[in-house]
Parts: sequence; structure tokens; C-alpha cells
Amino acid sequence: YRVTWDAVSAERGGYPHFMLKEIHEQPKAVRDTLRGRVSDDLNRVTLSEIGLDEEQIRNIDRIHIVACGTSWHAGLVGKVAIEQFARIPVDVEIASEYRYADPIATENTLIIAITQSGETADTLAAMREMKKRGLRVLAITNVVGSSAAREADSVIVTWAGPEIAVASTKAYTTQLAALYLLAVHFGQVRGQIDEATAHEMIEALDNLPQVVEAVLDTAPQIESFAQRYAHAHDTFFIGRGIDYAVSLEGALKLKEISYIHAEAYAAGELKHGTLALITDGVPVVAIAMQPDLYEKTVSNIVEVKARGAFVLALTWVGNEDLEKAVDEVIYLPKTLPALAPMAAVIPLQLLAYYAAVARGNDVDKPRNLAKSVTVE
Ligand code: G6P
Repeated sequence: YRVTWDAVSAERGGYPHFMLKEIHEQPKAVRDTLRGRVSDDLNRVTLSEIGLDEEQIRNIDRIHIVACGTSWHAGLVGKVAIEQFARIPVDVEIASEYRYADPIATENTLIIAITQSGETADTLAAMREMKKRGLRVLAITNVVGSSAAREADSVIVTWAGPEIAVASTKAYTTQLAALYLLAVHFGQVRGQIDEATAHEMIEALDNLPQVVEAVLDTAPQIESFAQRYAHAHDTFFIGRGIDYAVSLEGALKLKEISYIHAEAYAAGELKHGTLALITDGVPVVAIAMQPDLYEKTVSNIVEVKARGAFVLALTWVGNEDLEKAVDEVIYLPKTLPALAPMAAVIPLQLLAYYAAVARGNDVDKPRNLAKSVTVE
């Protein structure tokens, strides 16, 4: 197409939509969020901004993560990482529920509010409620001077830069980066991770921008696959463990901008009801990025294939075994299993984007939705 240099397309950096521009900005956004927070020798995470000394970190008995929408989905990934690396129990709550739920917390419970804008009404209300009870609130936000940043006891800023498209992309991946940093930091301070493992994890964190960069190369493959998706009525996203957490975000992206009905399921839960909806040609995206759970996920893939599903699978490079079980495979660079959502979410964002474009939708401003929900 012809690039016209009016003010708006100049702002979009030549991309047809802000969403596509923001998807492509993710390597930089993640790099900026990690910068200065890992030591040069890749042995330590530095997060002095959280304002907790080592003893306070050791005393944390529980974490409540509160958020809405995509930020809530980032929280679900954060829970798996924090529990795995630091062995601190984490609850991830939808802010509009949490604020009215009379949550059970002790003085050693840390509240983490995740909010791109820092202005979401329900998230702010949940923060205020817990502050009133004397609890410590840490905000993870993308807007330095936002209400969340001002009201929290401490802040981890995500350096995604302004996000314009209503559907969140680079905010999510930078939230993941912040949560991974926190998980490793807490794990180190609490003695749950030995030095060699910490080094391996921090090296993998430091490499995430390159991982994201490499995954962006799958865009043409996703674009052609999205043509098929654009006509679907119902679609399903399945995965286990942390792959399930990222499936939820994939389904949300598709709903938000393509208006195609999408549901995410923990793969093992399918046979308890949803399998009834799998008929000939129904598209299923299967995320199989966890070697430990791989055989289990494959058996669920076989179940949906047997009912006629058209399956697109995401797995790590080299795992060619999957080709015989599915219709199409997208290979993603290998990283630590816990960090795989950073890679897996990118094709899901692109799938939603290209399906929405194919349907002629207003990608950056989907119907009925707002970038920031500042009223209840
Ligand atoms: C709106 C946006 C979503 C976002 C959610 C939470 O629904 O459309 O993209 O995830 O709000 O926003 P926040 O700014 O609190 O992360």
C-alpha cells in the first residue's frame, strides 16, 4: 500500500494501526523494562523501588494480585512464576470482585495492583480498601504520574511507552517482565533459588527481548492462518499451567477486536463439558510450551482433533513431534518454561489483529470498549 504521511500515520510510524505498531515495539518495551534491574553479571535482580528490605520480603506470607482485563491475565502468569520461584502463595483477583469481597489478609500480606493506565476505577478502589486496612500496596503501572502510582506505597514502572490501541499488547509483556523480575528477586531473597539457578533465570530474562524479536518473524504465517479464523463463530484456546494463563489472554484479544467468540480452557478440563462444542472445523489454538506437561496436552489435542477441530499449535523449536497431531504448528524459541508466555502471547496478539483486519473492524477502537475504565 502507499504510505501517506499525514500526522496520524506519522504517529503510527508507518504502520496501518497503532496495535500493529505496539506489537512490534515489544522487544524494545521489554528491554526498557528490564534495563537497570538486572546486574551486569546476570547474577542479581535489583528492584530497590519496591521499598521492601530483605526481612520484609522474607516475612511475606501471601500475595494478593488485583487487576482488571489484560492486567489481570498478566497477574495469572505472575502467580505461577512467583509460586514457582519464590514459593509464596499468590491469589489473583479481579478488582471489581475483590473490592467487595472482604478479603482475608494479614499484616504480612502484600497487595500487588497491576494497571497499565493507573486509572482503572475498580483497581484503585481495591488498592484504597487495602491501604485503609494498613496493608502494603505495590503498584505495577505504565504511567508514572497516575493515580495508582501516587497512591501506592511503592511502584514498579513498566517502560512500555504510551499504549494507544484499546487492546493491550506491549503493556502486557512489560507487566510480565516486571512480574518475572519480582519472582526471581523474591526467590533469591527467600533462599528458594540457588546461585546457579538464579544466574540461569536472569540470563533467560535478559534474553527475552531477543525471543520476542524472533517470534515476530512468525507474522506472515499467522496472517495467512488468520484468514481462516476470520470466518469462525466459536474458537477455543487450550493449554495447561502457565500455558493456560496465556490462553486466557489469547482468547480475550480475539474477542476484543475481531468480535469472534473465543474461550480459553485448561486443556484437562475440556472433557468436563466444553468438548461438546467441538465439531467439524472449529478452530482450536493449543499452547504446548511446557515439556513437563507436554504428553498430557497432546492427549487433549488428540481429543479435539478426533471431533474434527482444526488445530493450530504453538510449541518450542525442534519439537517436530507435534506436526503429526495437528494441522499447523508455529515454532517458538525455547526459553525457560515459566517464561514461555512472553513468546506464546505474540502469535496470539497477531492472530487477533489479522483476524480483525480481515473482518474490516476498527482495530484500534473496538466497539463498546474503552482504553481506560475510570468509572465503575
Ligand atoms: C480496559 C482496557 C484493557 C485493560 C483493562 C485494564 O478494559 O480495554 O485493555 O486491560 O482496561 O486496564 P489497566 O489500565 O488497569 O491495566
